[in-house]
Amino acid sequence: MENAKSWRILAVESSCDESAAAVLDESRGLLAHEIFSQVELHRVFGGVVPELASRDHVRRLLPLVRVVLEESRTRPRDLRGIAYTAGPGLVGALLTGAALARSLAYAWRVPAVGVHHLEGHLLAARLEPEPPPFPQVALLVSGGHTLLVEALAVGRYRVLGQTRDDAAGEAFDKTAKLLGLPYPGGPELARLANEGAAGAFEFPRPMLDRPGLEFSFSGLKTAVLHAVRGRILTDRLRRDVARAVQEAIVDTLVAKALRALDATGLDTLVVCGGVGANRLLRERLAREVRSRGGRVHFPRLELCTDNAAMIAVAGLARLKAGEHDDLGIRARAQWPIESLRPIDP
Ligand code: KG4
Ligand code: ZN
Repeated sequence: MENAKSWRILAVESSCDESAAAVLDESRGLLAHEIFSQVELHRVFGGVVPELASRDHVRRLLPLVRVVLEESRTRPRDLRGIAYTAGPGLVGALLTGAALARSLAYAWRVPAVGVHHLEGHLLAARLEPEPPPFPQVALLVSGGHTLLVEALAVGRYRVLGQTRDDAAGEAFDKTAKLLGLPYPGGPELARLANEGAAGAFEFPRPMLDRPGLEFSFSGLKTAVLHAVRGRILTDRLRRDVARAVQEAIVDTLVAKALRALDATGLDTLVVCGGVGANRLLRERLAREVRSRGGRVHFPRLELCTDNAAMIAVAGLARLKAGEHDDLGIRARAQWPIESLRPIDP
């Protein structure tokens, strides 16, 4: 009975170093979502080791699926589809989730759909009590991507600008590494930054002086390297440099996001991806967008970084529109977000 009324789906995410599963119900909302972070596994290597990530997803995903089904009191026959992350990401890691989702869907006789990871990030804010309306500008800032997107509807995206080199999260992580901070450095650098002295260092705001909506963060590493070269990395030096790094990145992101609102004439900004969890970025954008009469939306912190709830949101929209995969197992390292099929409301 229930099956005929409300759409309920399972989703899995395995594009990088988080294994995650979720159950989303169209009328009752997010019923369960669980994340297993592999951060401990990769810490000694100072970064994600793709082969280890894939092997660990194989171990974690099925138990996570069991947990979310139990938590949400969902039986396989209550499900109307399964969504999985099909790209972009590490191909080996993606294949583990894709193979699992495809196999479960086959066994349970429901459709499976491969979801674009960035569309997941972009739609995560729809899980919040006040979902952002379309059209909107989205600032998508993660460890692998930095994009400004004009989103007109689900699947109808126009890239306004993106990074020419490092992503914003990468800039956090790489400068953190230069400061000797433990992996993953981004959140650690952000934490230290709050204790740093203002004005002790000044780093460049890349591409801010030029028109346009492109980003470039690779120069920041070099600037930090020059600032600390030959000096003893005291706690104070680390804090002060961290503060200046965070300010340079946040200033750049805020300025370009406001510029994108101007360029499109829109007043709704959605911020998503791991760097969207950064407190200074959230505070600055909330203030500046509000003072211009606009509104900024952020997913709650746990839905900014990688998770399966966001994959469920995108997957549900696509499954409901009749989209589903054949029996092939899809995984794409690269996948332009503008090539997605639009889903009109
Ligand atoms: O979206 P995400 O979990 O994974 C990708 O799809 O890349 O983003 C991870 C990125 C990492 O670079 C991490 O350092 C960064 O998000 N990050 C942060 C914060 N929390 C996570 N960067 C700055 N401040 C934070 N609080
Ligand atoms: Zn991500």
